[in-house]
Amino acid sequence: MVCLGNICRSPLAEGILQSKIDNAKVYVDSAGTAGYHLGNSPDPRSIEVAKQNGIDISHQRCRKFIEADFSSFDYIYVMDQSNYNNVLKLANGLTEINKVQLLLSEASLETNEVPDPYYGGVRGFESVYQMIDKACDSIANKLNQ
Ligand code: 4NP
Repeated sequence: MVCLGNICRSPLAEGILQSKIDNAKVYVDSAGTAGYHLGNSPDPRSIEVAKQNGIDISHQRCRKFIEADFSSFDYIYVMDQSNYNNVLKLANGLTEINKVQLLLSEASLETNEVPDPYYGGVRGFESVYQMIDKACDSIANKLNQ
């Protein structure tokens, strides 16, 4: 799960998907394309909205997306088009490129990008949570089959 800062959207996506799959079989992680907040906990608003939905993401720590992630992971979900472009800059070859997709391509919603909630209010985090949750339902269904 990849976003820009790895403190708002992708930590939610990591926690939400983990809550829906068998973690002994599927390893889920998140990262950011920027390194502004390396080593930090998720944004308090993400921690709070996750908590309200019964998910604890407070233990997560921010890290940067690196080239080696292309070999470590089978699927790389990005939150928006700008994340997609940033991740693709690090890709080597079609196999790696094909691992990357917009998270919301897995959900039937009107938008295919999870908006960046960082500069907005708590409401934005709630709506982002619902979007990510919907996509993760669909991913979990596939992985659990
Ligand atoms: P995220 O949100 O990409 O969902 O983690 C952001 C967090 C921090 C910043 C931008 C977006 N920032 O500019 O510090």
